[in-house]
Amino acid sequence: MPEPLRYDPYAARVLIPELAWQELEPKLQGARQEVLDDVAMMQAGALVPAAKQPLDAGFIELPAVLLREAEARRNSKSLLKQIERASLRLRRQIDRLVLLGIGGSYMGLRALFEGLCPPFYNELPRANRGGPRLYYEGENLDNDAARSLLELLQSECTKPTRLAHRWGIVVISKSGGTLETAAAFRLFREALERYYGADSPRSRELVIPITGESGKLRTFAERKGYPATFPVPDGIGGRFSVFTAVGLFPAAVLGIDIRALLQGAADMTERFKTAPYGSNPVLDYVAASHLLERDYGANIRVLSTWGKRLEAVGLWYDQLLAESLGKPKDDGFVGATPITVVNTRDLHSRGQQHQEGRRDKLITNVIVEAPSLEPLPVPMVPDADDQDQLNRLRGKTWPDLMSAAIQGTNQAYADVQRPTADIRLPRLDAYALGELLQMLMLATVVEGRLLGINPYGQPGVEDYKRNMGRILYG
Ligand code: PA5
Repeated sequence: MPEPLRYDPYAARVLIPELAWQELEPKLQGARQEVLDDVAMMQAGALVPAAKQPLDAGFIELPAVLLREAEARRNSKSLLKQIERASLRLRRQIDRLVLLGIGGSYMGLRALFEGLCPPFYNELPRANRGGPRLYYEGENLDNDAARSLLELLQSECTKPTRLAHRWGIVVISKSGGTLETAAAFRLFREALERYYGADSPRSRELVIPITGESGKLRTFAERKGYPATFPVPDGIGGRFSVFTAVGLFPAAVLGIDIRALLQGAADMTERFKTAPYGSNPVLDYVAASHLLERDYGANIRVLSTWGKRLEAVGLWYDQLLAESLGKPKDDGFVGATPITVVNTRDLHSRGQQHQEGRRDKLITNVIVEAPSLEPLPVPMVPDADDQDQLNRLRGKTWPDLMSAAIQGTNQAYADVQRPTADIRLPRLDAYALGELLQMLMLATVVEGRLLGINPYGQPGVEDYKRNMGRILYG
């Protein structure tokens, strides 16, 4: 088993009396049990009581189930095998992939792409990429962005017989009725059908819908006869769907090791179920976050990522936390406000406020301990050119500078009793990202149960959609 992710709330712990940690334990164990009972209820197909609806706990066991099925049905039709086969086919067929989706139907894949594919991926030659370039649409209603992508495809892709000129669409919507995605799908589908011919095999093979068991997109996909359509299973909500085909299929098209991803997630679920309080990343994360919010007013939760490649993990977590816990309870409201920070960049924008502003934040660092590529040394220059005085850094590398920034920042916060905690990944690979995403999803639902609110569903999001529908359709 690869070296596991570690969670250490060391600096947050200093602020919280030991008694508070201990007193929380039975409640936290109760919340964990409730989450596991939710899973059991779903597995048994039992009637879900009204107070528990919607119940979308299917994400918890999914990674282990997918891996087990693929093992058990070696040569047959496990979902994972189907995803692997179809993604490999698409990977070989196209050089540009347009991914249409929004919210949970886009953020998870973006987190995987930015975390695991090489920086500047789209700029690399095909031989170095191995798979198609990636573009997002349907995650906004931005006219100029959509038109620019269409024009890019039209100008770069003119010879459909050549790999370098072929593009395809993965359209993702669990409900199948989200306006942004549906409108973008019309737009790009029309362009694709014009390019390959409306009734050509390619106009069907190069469109892969990923959608719920029913809904408008499912009905349309069936009518069109798209040969590969993947499900978003019932019982898994959009923002919890990164380990369904929603994240797995496009990730595999991009060459990401989806089995390692699932293994990391499955191992995290196992730790969540079995590891004791105090060495259980999920329970410990919830404990530190909850106690600091309850007792110290830290109702802003900063996910402070160190390095450029985890920003989209932060944006994915923004959605996860905000939609899951930002809800009314009794006569008040619950749910911390998530903020993503990318350091060292944001030390030069948000750093001042974190150091001396309101005491309303818990800063959780996400630290990757080893770079994926060889460390860059700080270049040495002749003394005559050393006006920047960086020759003092002789023998130091980029990771040394980053490490000094992390230590220096944490020390500065600790000196003025600003709470921090660390999530440490030994390296940034598929296994570690699988662990991290599953940890944060589990923590979110445990915290929901601890707070006495349903972490699943997002009823508040419907209000703007209703208004928009009235404005557009009358
Ligand atoms: O978490 C959720 O369920 C939502 O944020 C959805 O992911 C988002 O609204 C997109 O929905 P759909 O996949 O149905 O198009």
